[in-house]
Amino acid sequence: MQISASILSADMANLIAVTAGLEHAKVDMLHFDVMDGNFVPNITFGMPVLAAIDRCTPLFMDVHLMIADPLRYAAQFVEAGADLVTFHLESESDPKETIDAIHQAGAQAGIVLKPGTPWDAAIPYLEMAEVVLVMTVEPGFGGQSFLWDMVDKVTSLHRYIRQHNLPCRIEVDGGINVETAPYVLRAGAEILVMGSYLFHQANLYAAVQQIHAEAEKFFSDKTCVPDVPANGYSMKK
Ligand code: DX5
Ligand code: ZN
Repeated sequence: MQISASILSADMANLIAVTAGLEHAKVDMLHFDVMDGNFVPNITFGMPVLAAIDRCTPLFMDVHLMIADPLRYAAQFVEAGADLVTFHLESESDPKETIDAIHQAGAQAGIVLKPGTPWDAAIPYLEMAEVVLVMTVEPGFGGQSFLWDMVDKVTSLHRYIRQHNLPCRIEVDGGINVETAPYVLRAGAEILVMGSYLFHQANLYAAVQQIHAEAEKFFSDKTCVPDVPANGYSMKK
Protein backbone atom coordinates (compact mmCIF):
# COMPACT_ATOMS: atom_id res chain seq x y z
CA MET A 1 0.00 0.00 0.00
CA GLN A 2 1.30 3.42 -0.92
CA ILE A 3 -0.04 6.83 0.08
CA SER A 4 -0.11 9.67 -2.44
CA ALA A 5 -0.84 12.95 -0.66
CA SER A 6 -3.00 15.37 -2.68
CA ILE A 7 -1.79 18.91 -2.05
CA LEU A 8 -5.11 20.32 -3.33
CA SER A 9 -6.14 20.59 0.33
CA ALA A 10 -2.76 21.84 1.58
CA ASP A 11 -1.73 25.39 2.46
CA MET A 12 -0.77 26.84 -0.94
CA ALA A 13 1.09 29.72 0.70
CA ASN A 14 3.46 27.31 2.46
CA LEU A 15 4.30 24.62 -0.04
CA ILE A 16 7.91 24.25 1.13
CA ALA A 17 6.65 23.48 4.64
CA VAL A 18 4.02 21.16 3.14
CA THR A 19 6.59 19.09 1.23
CA ALA A 20 8.86 18.97 4.30
CA GLY A 21 5.91 17.67 6.34
CA LEU A 22 5.09 15.03 3.73
CA GLU A 23 8.70 13.84 3.66
CA HIS A 24 8.77 13.66 7.45
CA ALA A 25 5.48 11.71 7.47
CA LYS A 26 7.02 9.34 4.90
CA VAL A 27 4.22 9.49 2.35
CA ASP A 28 5.16 7.66 -0.84
CA MET A 29 4.06 10.22 -3.43
CA LEU A 30 2.89 13.80 -3.82
CA HIS A 31 -0.40 13.89 -5.80
CA PHE A 32 -0.60 17.00 -8.02
CA ASP A 33 -4.10 17.68 -9.41
CA VAL A 34 -4.06 19.67 -12.64
CA MET A 35 -7.47 21.14 -13.60
CA ASP A 36 -8.13 23.31 -16.64
CA GLY A 37 -11.62 24.73 -16.02
CA ASN A 38 -12.76 22.90 -19.15
CA PHE A 39 -12.52 19.14 -18.55
CA VAL A 40 -13.57 19.86 -14.96
CA PRO A 41 -15.27 22.99 -13.57
CA ASN A 42 -12.26 24.11 -11.54
CA ILE A 43 -8.77 25.51 -12.19
CA THR A 44 -5.70 24.65 -10.11
CA PHE A 45 -2.05 24.81 -11.16
CA GLY A 46 0.25 23.74 -13.97
CA MET A 47 3.85 23.14 -15.08
CA PRO A 48 5.61 26.12 -13.41
CA VAL A 49 4.19 25.26 -9.98
CA LEU A 50 5.08 21.58 -10.44
CA ALA A 51 8.64 22.49 -11.43
CA ALA A 52 8.96 24.77 -8.40
CA ILE A 53 7.72 22.09 -6.00
CA ASP A 54 9.90 19.44 -7.63
CA ARG A 55 12.96 21.59 -6.96
CA CYS A 56 12.09 21.60 -3.23
CA THR A 57 11.60 17.89 -2.62
CA PRO A 58 12.79 14.43 -3.64
CA LEU A 59 9.19 13.13 -3.35
CA PHE A 60 7.80 11.05 -6.24
CA MET A 61 5.51 13.32 -8.29
CA ASP A 62 2.14 11.72 -9.12
CA VAL A 63 0.54 14.14 -11.60
CA HIS A 64 -3.20 13.73 -12.25
CA LEU A 65 -4.23 15.59 -15.41
CA MET A 66 -7.89 16.64 -15.42
CA ILE A 67 -7.51 18.53 -18.68
CA ALA A 68 -9.23 18.32 -22.06
CA ASP A 69 -6.13 17.51 -24.17
CA PRO A 70 -3.52 15.67 -22.09
CA LEU A 71 -1.52 14.57 -25.15
CA ARG A 72 -0.68 18.21 -25.86
CA TYR A 73 0.89 18.79 -22.43
CA ALA A 74 2.08 15.36 -21.23
CA ALA A 75 5.76 15.78 -22.15
CA GLN A 76 5.84 19.27 -20.61
CA PHE A 77 4.62 17.87 -17.28
CA VAL A 78 7.33 15.19 -17.37
CA GLU A 79 9.88 17.90 -18.14
CA ALA A 80 8.55 19.83 -15.12
CA GLY A 81 9.17 16.87 -12.81
CA ALA A 82 6.31 14.36 -13.11
CA ASP A 83 7.37 10.78 -12.33
CA LEU A 84 3.89 9.39 -13.07
CA VAL A 85 1.36 11.13 -15.33
CA THR A 86 -2.24 9.95 -15.20
CA PHE A 87 -4.86 11.24 -17.65
CA HIS A 88 -8.56 10.62 -18.22
CA LEU A 89 -9.89 8.14 -20.77
CA GLU A 90 -12.82 10.59 -21.15
CA SER A 91 -10.49 13.35 -22.42
CA GLU A 92 -10.11 14.26 -26.10
CA SER A 93 -6.67 12.68 -26.52
CA ASP A 94 -6.04 9.25 -28.01
CA PRO A 95 -5.14 7.06 -24.99
CA LYS A 96 -2.47 4.96 -26.73
CA GLU A 97 -0.73 8.02 -28.19
CA THR A 98 -0.85 9.73 -24.80
CA ILE A 99 0.63 6.74 -22.98
CA ASP A 100 3.39 6.56 -25.62
CA ALA A 101 4.11 10.28 -25.25
CA ILE A 102 4.41 9.97 -21.46
CA HIS A 103 6.71 6.95 -21.75
CA GLN A 104 8.85 8.60 -24.41
CA ALA A 105 9.24 11.63 -22.16
CA GLY A 106 10.55 9.29 -19.44
CA ALA A 107 7.72 8.86 -16.91
CA GLN A 108 5.26 6.18 -15.89
CA ALA A 109 1.78 6.45 -17.42
CA GLY A 110 -1.65 5.92 -15.92
CA ILE A 111 -5.20 6.00 -17.22
CA VAL A 112 -8.03 7.44 -15.12
CA LEU A 113 -11.70 6.43 -15.06
CA LYS A 114 -14.42 8.83 -13.93
CA PRO A 115 -17.13 7.24 -11.75
CA GLY A 116 -19.52 6.85 -14.72
CA THR A 117 -16.99 5.08 -16.97
CA PRO A 118 -17.22 1.27 -16.81
CA TRP A 119 -14.17 -0.63 -15.58
CA ASP A 120 -13.78 -2.59 -18.82
CA ALA A 121 -13.12 0.61 -20.81
CA ALA A 122 -9.62 0.32 -19.32
CA ILE A 123 -8.93 -3.16 -20.73
CA PRO A 124 -7.21 -2.10 -24.00
CA TYR A 125 -4.67 -0.02 -22.04
CA LEU A 126 -3.90 -2.22 -19.02
CA GLU A 127 -0.93 -3.85 -20.76
CA MET A 128 0.68 -0.50 -21.57
CA ALA A 129 -0.02 1.59 -18.47
CA GLU A 130 1.74 1.22 -15.11
CA VAL A 131 -1.30 2.53 -13.22
CA VAL A 132 -5.08 2.61 -13.56
CA LEU A 133 -6.66 5.29 -11.36
CA VAL A 134 -10.27 4.77 -10.29
CA MET A 135 -11.96 8.04 -9.33
CA THR A 136 -13.96 7.44 -6.18
CA VAL A 137 -15.56 10.92 -6.42
CA GLU A 138 -16.45 13.07 -9.45
CA PRO A 139 -13.20 14.84 -10.42
CA GLY A 140 -12.95 18.56 -9.77
CA PHE A 141 -12.89 19.17 -6.04
CA GLY A 142 -11.32 17.86 -2.86
CA GLY A 143 -13.32 17.05 0.24
CA GLN A 144 -16.17 15.10 -1.39
CA SER A 145 -17.73 11.91 -0.01
CA PHE A 146 -16.49 8.52 -1.18
CA LEU A 147 -18.71 6.82 -3.77
CA TRP A 148 -19.19 3.34 -2.33
CA ASP A 149 -20.25 1.87 -5.71
CA MET A 150 -16.65 2.29 -6.86
CA VAL A 151 -15.51 -0.56 -4.60
CA ASP A 152 -17.04 -3.06 -7.03
CA LYS A 153 -15.27 -1.34 -9.91
CA VAL A 154 -11.91 -1.76 -8.18
CA THR A 155 -12.76 -5.42 -7.49
CA SER A 156 -13.54 -6.05 -11.18
CA LEU A 157 -10.38 -4.35 -12.39
CA HIS A 158 -8.26 -6.16 -9.83
CA ARG A 159 -9.71 -9.52 -10.83
CA TYR A 160 -8.98 -8.87 -14.51
CA ILE A 161 -5.44 -7.62 -13.82
CA ARG A 162 -4.69 -10.68 -11.68
CA GLN A 163 -6.22 -13.16 -14.14
CA HIS A 164 -4.14 -11.74 -16.97
CA ASN A 165 -1.03 -11.32 -14.86
CA LEU A 166 -0.65 -7.64 -15.81
CA PRO A 167 1.83 -5.35 -14.01
CA CYS A 168 -0.69 -2.47 -13.78
CA ARG A 169 -1.36 -1.14 -10.24
CA ILE A 170 -4.70 0.28 -9.08
CA GLU A 171 -4.82 3.79 -7.59
CA VAL A 172 -7.94 5.29 -6.00
CA ASP A 173 -8.67 9.00 -5.62
CA GLY A 174 -11.41 10.81 -3.72
CA GLY A 175 -12.89 10.50 -0.25
CA ILE A 176 -10.19 8.13 1.01
CA ASN A 177 -9.79 8.19 4.78
CA VAL A 178 -9.18 5.80 7.65
CA GLU A 179 -12.74 4.46 7.31
CA THR A 180 -12.85 3.93 3.53
CA ALA A 181 -9.22 2.79 3.03
CA PRO A 182 -9.75 -0.83 4.21
CA TYR A 183 -12.56 -1.32 1.66
CA VAL A 184 -10.48 -0.20 -1.32
CA LEU A 185 -7.51 -2.20 -0.08
CA ARG A 186 -9.66 -5.31 0.17
CA ALA A 187 -10.90 -4.65 -3.38
CA GLY A 188 -7.29 -4.54 -4.66
CA ALA A 189 -6.19 -0.90 -4.67
CA GLU A 190 -2.48 -0.36 -4.00
CA ILE A 191 -2.06 3.41 -4.21
CA LEU A 192 -4.35 5.56 -2.04
CA VAL A 193 -4.67 9.26 -2.81
CA MET A 194 -5.55 11.29 0.27
CA GLY A 195 -6.15 15.01 0.37
CA SER A 196 -8.55 16.59 2.84
CA TYR A 197 -8.30 13.71 5.32
CA LEU A 198 -4.52 14.08 5.71
CA PHE A 199 -4.34 17.85 5.67
CA HIS A 200 -7.13 18.28 8.22
CA GLN A 201 -5.24 16.20 10.79
CA ALA A 202 -3.37 18.06 13.51
CA ASN A 203 -0.46 15.62 13.17
CA LEU A 204 0.27 14.49 9.62
CA TYR A 205 2.94 12.01 10.74
CA ALA A 206 0.53 10.31 13.17
CA ALA A 207 -2.23 10.22 10.53
CA VAL A 208 0.02 8.43 8.03
CA GLN A 209 1.13 6.00 10.75
CA GLN A 210 -2.51 5.30 11.59
CA ILE A 211 -3.42 4.54 7.97
CA HIS A 212 -0.46 2.14 7.73
CA ALA A 213 -1.50 0.51 11.02
CA GLU A 214 -5.07 0.06 9.71
CA ALA A 215 -3.72 -1.44 6.49
CA GLU A 216 -1.46 -3.83 8.42
CA LYS A 217 -4.34 -4.86 10.65
CA PHE A 218 -6.40 -5.48 7.55
CA PHE A 219 -3.73 -7.55 5.78
CA SER A 220 -3.09 -9.68 8.86
CA ASP A 221 -6.81 -10.22 9.56
CA LYS A 222 -9.03 -9.55 6.55
CA THR A 223 -12.13 -10.24 8.63
CA CYS A 224 -11.55 -6.98 10.53
CA VAL A 225 -13.35 -5.08 7.71
CA PRO A 226 -17.08 -5.18 8.31
CA ASP A 227 -19.24 -6.10 5.32
CA VAL A 228 -21.76 -3.33 5.86
CA PRO A 229 -20.43 0.11 6.75
CA ALA A 230 -22.52 2.68 8.59
CA ASN A 231 -24.10 4.15 5.43
CA GLY A 232 -25.63 0.84 4.44
CA TYR A 233 -23.41 -0.15 1.53
CA SER A 234 -22.99 -3.92 1.28
CA MET A 235 -20.23 -5.68 -0.62
CA LYS A 236 -21.67 -7.42 -3.68
CA LYS A 237 -19.90 -10.63 -4.64
C1 DX5 B 1 -10.40 15.45 -7.11
C2 DX5 B 1 -8.91 15.23 -7.04
C3 DX5 B 1 -8.44 14.54 -5.82
C4 DX5 B 1 -8.67 15.29 -4.54
C5 DX5 B 1 -8.86 14.27 -3.47
O1 DX5 B 1 -10.75 15.81 -8.40
O2 DX5 B 1 -8.49 14.44 -8.14
O3 DX5 B 1 -7.07 14.18 -5.92
O4 DX5 B 1 -7.62 16.13 -4.16
O5 DX5 B 1 -9.23 14.93 -2.34
P1 DX5 B 1 -9.95 14.21 -1.13
O6 DX5 B 1 -8.98 13.20 -0.59
O7 DX5 B 1 -10.22 15.34 -0.23
O8 DX5 B 1 -11.19 13.57 -1.67
ZN1 ZN C 1 -6.45 13.57 -8.10
